[in-house]
Amino acid sequence: MKKEAINVGIVGLGTVGQGVIRVLRENKEFIEQKIFPRKIVLKRIADKDRNKILPESELYKIFTDSTQEVVVDPEIDIIVETIGGFEPARSFIVQALKSGKHVVTANKEVIARAGYEILNLAQENRIYFLFEASVASGIPIIGALSHSLTSYKLKEIIGILNGTTNYILTKMSEEDKEYNEALKEAQKKGYAEADPSKDIDGFDACNKIFILSAIAFRAKIDPDKIYYEGIRNISKLDIQYARELGYTIKLLALAADDGQQLDIKVHPALVPKRHTMANVNGAYNGILLRGEGFGDLTFSGLGAGALPAGSMIVSDIVNIVNNFDNYKNYYSCFKKKEIKDFKKTQSPFYLRIRVKDRPGVLAEIARSFAKNEVSFASVIQKGEAGGIVDIVFLTHRAKEGDVQEALKEVIRLECVEKICSTIRVVEI
Ligand SMILES: NC(=O)c1ccc[n+]([C@@H]2O[C@H](COP(=O)([O-])OP(=O)(O)OC[C@H]3O[C@@H](n4cnc5c(N)ncnc54)[C@H](OP(=O)(O)O)[C@@H]3O)[C@@H](O)[C@H]2O)c1
Repeated sequence: MKKEAINVGIVGLGTVGQGVIRVLRENKEFIEQKIFPRKIVLKRIADKDRNKILPESELYKIFTDSTQEVVVDPEIDIIVETIGGFEPARSFIVQALKSGKHVVTANKEVIARAGYEILNLAQENRIYFLFEASVASGIPIIGALSHSLTSYKLKEIIGILNGTTNYILTKMSEEDKEYNEALKEAQKKGYAEADPSKDIDGFDACNKIFILSAIAFRAKIDPDKIYYEGIRNISKLDIQYARELGYTIKLLALAADDGQQLDIKVHPALVPKRHTMANVNGAYNGILLRGEGFGDLTFSGLGAGALPAGSMIVSDIVNIVNNFDNYKNYYSCFKKKEIKDFKKTQSPFYLRIRVKDRPGVLAEIARSFAKNEVSFASVIQKGEAGGIVDIVFLTHRAKEGDVQEALKEVIRLECVEKICSTIRVVEI
């Protein structure tokens, strides 16, 4: 006889863990229609601190402060890991899988650093390890990549995958705020953590584009080889000048397959103002998938929050329940692929260089760039003549390494005070 009640245990009752409880309780009837005749039973919940859960006696009855107890409980079928961070979350996931339990997580750090090993373990034991909520929370992007887009090869992913940085850049752009002011506001509103470095410096987006690339290109790649750069150095002036040139600045996570290597990177970029991706604002995430046959697909939605993440975790649970007796190996055939050396990647560049305003300056700078095979598409002088001025250059497509070499020469010129900004322009 089929097992009718599928028992779930949740470990980590913070924002997302509590979101999962809410989704399961508030949508019970709707969810049961999707899994009929089965039922999902919330069997155990664990956190270090019982005060995390709402003061409801019903939940206290199933609460424990021993995560270990839940992870090995023989009555539990599915563990939801919402502790976050690398350890001890990874060890709990491994232990749950070894105890024959399916695991659902939202933990991108664990997947980025130990995902292949965990997926192998799950496959050997014919159990599920699902992680839809780990990238772009409320957008079902992993399902789209793994279950829906299975007829044509994907060529390119362009993502705004971090809500914190998108919120900050939007505030800087729409309200003319400097970076520090916009960051403080994001922290006050709960969009940025007290230590925001993982978001601000691009590490979070890097983990997410790693996950999307691995799934989309079925690639075994080394996440440490992905170049990432954050938004700390973006200034109000750059946002203003970019706007005048017809662009918006976004933190982009990019991945492309040229058939040989994968070009994967995270950095701020000038995006044409009218493009859909330039209009993904605030704490929203956006993802553009480009492939043959289906063309361009754009997704946008809430990239964080208890209910967006909770709802995707519950969707993974529903998926497991519906395939409980009929194991499907969703994630196999990962092939080793190299990530292209960042210095060899190409794009047009936006450069802002502070110089002494005197005749011949432009010619001197242009010579250094030309020597390194970098040419200009446009040059605009900003500021008053006669003193120190900023010159904004837009280059034609150039190699990253060549631009870096040219800038090393330019900074040595007597007329140059400072290289203020180097921002890539995305061609979409
Ligand atoms: N927040 C979002 O919107 C969002 C969206 C998508 C994905 N995610 C991912 O979801 C995961 C959870 O994020 P979150 O925002 O919910 O984090 P959170 O609010 O910090 O919740 C984590 C909870 O786990 C508890 N915890 C820590 N160590 C534990 C242990 N050994 N056993 C049991 N509980 C433990 C924490 O307690 P203490 O606070 O006392 O340490 C906290 O209550 C992360 O991987 C995150 O990247 C989050």
